[in-house]
Amino acid sequence: MEKLSLPKSRIKILLLENIHKSAVDLLKRNGYANIESIPGALEPEDLKARLKNVHILGIRSRTRLTKDILSAGEKLLTVGCFCIGTNQVDLRCAKRMGVPVFNAPYSNTRSVAELVIAEIIMLFRGIPQRSWGAHEGAWDKTVKGAKEIRGKTLGIVGYGHIGSQLSVMAEAMGMQVRFHDIVEKLAIGNAKPCVSLDELLAVSDVVTLHVPETPQTKNMITAAKLKKMNKGSFLINASRGTVVEIDSLADALKSGHIAGAAVDVFPKEPADGNEKFKSPLQGLRNVILTPHIGGSTEEAQANIGGEVAEKLVKYSDNGSTLGAVNFVEVALPIQENTTRFMHIHRDVPGVMSKISEVFARRKINIAGQYLRTDGEIGYVVTDVTGRVQVGMGIRKELAAIDGTVRTRFLYEAPAT
Ligand code: NAI
Repeated sequence: MEKLSLPKSRIKILLLENIHKSAVDLLKRNGYANIESIPGALEPEDLKARLKNVHILGIRSRTRLTKDILSAGEKLLTVGCFCIGTNQVDLRCAKRMGVPVFNAPYSNTRSVAELVIAEIIMLFRGIPQRSWGAHEGAWDKTVKGAKEIRGKTLGIVGYGHIGSQLSVMAEAMGMQVRFHDIVEKLAIGNAKPCVSLDELLAVSDVVTLHVPETPQTKNMITAAKLKKMNKGSFLINASRGTVVEIDSLADALKSGHIAGAAVDVFPKEPADGNEKFKSPLQGLRNVILTPHIGGSTEEAQANIGGEVAEKLVKYSDNGSTLGAVNFVEVALPIQENTTRFMHIHRDVPGVMSKISEVFARRKINIAGQYLRTDGEIGYVVTDVTGRVQVGMGIRKELAAIDGTVRTRFLYEAPAT
């Protein structure tokens, strides 16, 4: 393997911001040993200096990868965001540099679904206000307004990863589940789709939102929509803060039309623990407020570590860009007795024929090839039959093709 253009032993991995140990474990299991883990984020200048020798960088949400910082990463192959969001990275600049960026969008699905189940029970039993009262010395020992969730109707808006998992859990607890999605979704269990959001609002005892932030979902729940909900029903939002008109929700809670709410996400969230959190929902005793922690569990962190590290390994080992947020997705199955090259280039005409010529001139058979382009970047993975060594000058010729951004010799067929 030492004949590869970049053997694993020379791949330097830098992990910042206390990334879960599950990532290091997975990288080590896959033969990557040159790993440095740093607990915090680095100052921009320090990061730039270190990035010069780094091939794989792992960050979380506090490290901003601007164009200036990325351009210091001359050897950078790929970036893993060990979190959900990727807006801390200049994704377009990374793409133009031939650097795919990966994240873990679904590692915390279960954590969010569990929290929502807990909140449904808390709201139906009137726990927020009773807990608040007990802290203040009140003894509100009454059944008034306390209900079981069994038999009640849960309306799920957005039947994706979280919505559909929640559907299964809610049914297991005896709830009736209705859902609404803009995409045709196969109902799980006995859940039934609603033809419109309005229908869902009208039939539900509790509505929970699990949609992404898009122009269509911005202020999806307005004062008019809240009026369409049943009097005495509940609203849960653990999706994105912009989905609900927060002042209208506060009004609906104050008027008693909405009996309670659990809100984890807000239109304006503090940037960090030093900034004070302000919301029109503060002080309302029938509201559970949480600081955007729906997906924040130790298990989710461990899942994120494994999921992102695996994507980085697959890219570094095989060239797979499945799940990249800024890159065309290419995944070519591993073929027996082949040698694999990857080539990232500007999306200009003629590159593919020049790549093929490099092999044809040497009478090397192309056993498989997969190309994807997006108007800006083209990415091709090529498998050639047998053992083809770097020494043949192939990589240099591939690198010299006009428009080349990056090329690598990923693995070679075993010696016969
Ligand atoms: P997903 O992409 O798997 O599912 C979203 C679903 O919403 C899709 O089925 C989509 O078709 C549907 N949808 C999109 N626009 C819609 C519309 N206008 N009306 C109805 N349905 C619509 O996403 P996932 O993983 O289930 O996440 C859902 C939300 O939860 C996202 O906003 C995500 O950012 C948020 N989230 C919040 C966390 C927290 O800590 N509170 C943690 C994880 C995710």
